[in-house]
Amino acid sequence: MTNAKQTTVLITGANKGLGLEAARRLGEEGWLVFLGSRDERRGRAAADQLTAAGANVVLVPLDVASDTSVADALRLVREHTDRLDVLINNAGTPGHFVAPADATADEIHGVYDTNVYGPIRVTHAFLPLLQAADNPRVVMVSSAGGSFSVVTDPQQPVSTMHELAYSSSKAALNMVTVRYAQALPHIKFNVATPGEVANRTFAATDMNNHTGQLTVTEGTDSILGLATLDADGPTGIFVDRLGPVGW
Ligand SMILES: NC(=O)c1ccc[n+]([C@@H]2O[C@H](COP(=O)([O-])OP(=O)(O)OC[C@H]3O[C@@H](n4cnc5c(N)ncnc54)[C@H](OP(=O)(O)O)[C@@H]3O)[C@@H](O)[C@H]2O)c1
Repeated sequence: MTNAKQTTVLITGANKGLGLEAARRLGEEGWLVFLGSRDERRGRAAADQLTAAGANVVLVPLDVASDTSVADALRLVREHTDRLDVLINNAGTPGHFVAPADATADEIHGVYDTNVYGPIRVTHAFLPLLQAADNPRVVMVSSAGGSFSVVTDPQQPVSTMHELAYSSSKAALNMVTVRYAQALPHIKFNVATPGEVANRTFAATDMNNHTGQLTVTEGTDSILGLATLDADGPTGIFVDRLGPVGW
């Protein structure tokens, strides 16, 4: 069992990219990191790397698109702790960037299963552990692509990137977060986007074939900011690393 002073965090999709970097940074802070990974082998490699650097890491096999996997993950985390201080719903998929005219419900369903139902599955399952913490925080990793104000701004490149699944899934995630925040005021539910909206930048990861202008460390600044909020911090906000972002 974890000791009362050690902050606990579960990060989904933490075997690489922003999830792995968030795990590295919070491990460096002395937190107990539950490193979620849908592929056990990739997750083990990531966990070993952080453990070798001195972090306290528990690998949690976790496919956010599977009810069974989420239930197994909860059982495993419960073997180590009776409370969860922070949940970072980071796992995400871009889908195939199909043009709206060609998008089918099947195509969109796959993206929603990870990007929308995934965070709901995991949040719902871990609510009892979150409710046992003194200052529970849930961070939803969304995207500027999920912001109506960004997508309808002709100056933003995303306004001319014609696809349905990813941007609408992140818009849905934003609303899901606001509704959780309103209904559960004792838990902070906030949304982070990894890029800088004002500068139209994003973080270089596999998801964008490393075309982003920001490092993964910069890309996780907004996530870390929300994960480390004090008890009197805000709930129901949407931020990038520079500050509040329009919904
Ligand atoms: N990079 C940016 O600037 C940027 C901008 C806006 C939003 N985001 C968001 O940031 C989050 C992290 O993305 P990233 O840039 O770090 O991309 P990434 O390197 O491709 O990482 C995505 C992670 O999500 C995992 N994942 C996908 N589907 C999953 C599932 N069903 N269950 C569990 N894990 C799953 C992947 O696991 P596998 O290795 O098994 O595929 C991987 O660990 C995503 O939610 C993304 O939408 C990123």
